Amino acid sequence: MDKVQDTIDLLRVYNQEHIINLLEKLDEDKKQELIEQISKIDFHQLKELYDSTKKEIVIKENKIEPLPYMDKKKLSEEQREEFQKLGEEVLRKGEYAVVTMAGGQGTRLGHSGPKGTFKLDVYGKGKYLFEILAENLKEANQKYEKVIPWYIMTSKENNEETIQFMEKNNYFGYDKDSVRFFAQSELPLLDINGKLLVGKDMKIKEASDGNGGTYSSLRASGALAEMKEKGIKWVFIGGVDNALLKMADTILLGMAIKKKVQIASKSIVKANAHERVGVFGKMNGHPKVIEYTELPEKMAEEVDEDGELKYGEAHIMCNLYTIEAIEKISKETLIYHSAFKKNSYIDEEGKEVIPTEPNSYKFESFIFDAFELFDDIAILRGKREDDFAPVKNKDGEDSPKTAKELYEKYWNRNS
Ligand code: UTP
Repeated sequence: MDKVQDTIDLLRVYNQEHIINLLEKLDEDKKQELIEQISKIDFHQLKELYDSTKKEIVIKENKIEPLPYMDKKKLSEEQREEFQKLGEEVLRKGEYAVVTMAGGQGTRLGHSGPKGTFKLDVYGKGKYLFEILAENLKEANQKYEKVIPWYIMTSKENNEETIQFMEKNNYFGYDKDSVRFFAQSELPLLDINGKLLVGKDMKIKEASDGNGGTYSSLRASGALAEMKEKGIKWVFIGGVDNALLKMADTILLGMAIKKKVQIASKSIVKANAHERVGVFGKMNGHPKVIEYTELPEKMAEEVDEDGELKYGEAHIMCNLYTIEAIEKISKETLIYHSAFKKNSYIDEEGKEVIPTEPNSYKFESFIFDAFELFDDIAILRGKREDDFAPVKNKDGEDSPKTAKELYEKYWNRNS
């Protein structure tokens, strides 16, 4: 079998002649590397993804209903104690693991390294986002006398740098043997005509396939099997960029146990009816994070008898799952969403092109698209000022400046 000819035929079928030209120009080693990369690409899937960018989005008639939630501050003393006790038990038995999603590109923040290596200018000296997360977990470890296994999802691009950073900083005092890194899966980028982009390394340019890739990457990396071996029953999955993220909230955990659900999530109430965030609801009978574009304006404004927004619970990437739920989702293919972004590439003359306008499609799945695989989910409303200090943009809203203020205010109140 002629591998080179097979690869050329494949590329021709999928209209990627520019890659055939590239193959012909490369030396033997580079050629083999590229052929190896091509053999791992699902061209059929890519074509479907590209075709989907050309289809008009048809908003289907969906049945949208509110999803019940519990408000943490309105729990009775008994409820609070019961939840706490149930949650604590799991932590004390060492049946709890945490996953940090740190595979994003952080393009809006514009920090040159992995997002977790960004230093938030708090209390003079500053703290790295990874340091803030480590502190949150260490506090739980001390309280419940068990070390929580900490899984950090990176991207192929930032994996090395993330590990080196954690090594250099001595894991911020976390037990090194309890930290495991795993890189998430990737998908190639496509230009406006569906052609593959070429990177500086003369390979096809790929990028991480969204935070929904967490589930399948947990499985493929062996992390899921390891968790099962350790007897883990509950897995928390959160982002890297919320300086007030509580990764071991026993009330959230206890509530999930009490309600016998497979997934639980902490929300915060929308700042106003028209805030552009996804909110929890039921769509066609299943739990879902409903994008603001999918929620009719009238519904967004609806309030209940207490004057609370019926669709007011915003998703903040603070999610908890049974190990069975992770196992189930990791076998499913989540839908991909396309984003039109700026990505540099090497043109046919071998010159690097750095676009000033978006030029290519990136395909991403979202962590919350898995919720609809379940009949139910338990939602706990937290508090914006206690639970949410996102670092997303360079300036303005959800920036290092706002996160610093929120973080310092929180710790001034709570220490
Ligand atoms: P965002 O969707 O905010 O993306 O990620 P981002 O990469 O941090 O920032 P932008 O959009 O490029 O500016 C939310 C969380 O999901 C993780 C991020 O690291 C962050 O914790 N994520 C996102 C991944 O782990 N992998 C991905 O492919 C995308």
